[in-house]
Amino acid sequence: MESNKTFTMIKPDAVANGHIGAILDKIIDNGFKIIALKYTALSAEKAGEFYSVHKGRPFYNALVSFMSSGPIIAAILEKENAIEDYRKLIGATDPTKAEPGTIRNLFAKSIDANAVHGSDSDENAAIEGNFFFSAFERF
Ligand code: CMP
Repeated sequence: MESNKTFTMIKPDAVANGHIGAILDKIIDNGFKIIALKYTALSAEKAGEFYSVHKGRPFYNALVSFMSSGPIIAAILEKENAIEDYRKLIGATDPTKAEPGTIRNLFAKSIDANAVHGSDSDENAAIEGNFFFSAFERF
């Protein structure tokens, strides 16, 4: 299992609010190499599949509906200690609890519209990266 990769999405709120460039700049400035990148959108079915680990939780339907509400950016990022470092960079899931200067502190509005997703383990980073990217889309 690789430990130097993570997967991220810039969510529909941050895309709609014009934050793609600022968020990608932060990612690059913090030493992550973008090895795959895509501007796309999730259908409700695909969003449900991506977040199937949360099925049954009270926020699942709202999450699926929000994540299929507009285009997103999907990316695979490479850096030593990628999972932990990226979670530090994005801040707490609830932006009201995110440290100043983190991506969610700067760009997120609520726990649903929280600007970005970041993988929580090496295993999930591999699963989530494979959900969006083929071998021919990674460099
Ligand atoms: P994300 O890191 O993409 O993973 C699951 C998402 O569910 C999370 O970010 C939040 O946007 C959303 N969510 C909404 N409510 C909650 C909650 N109570 N706990 C965790 N995630 C939540």
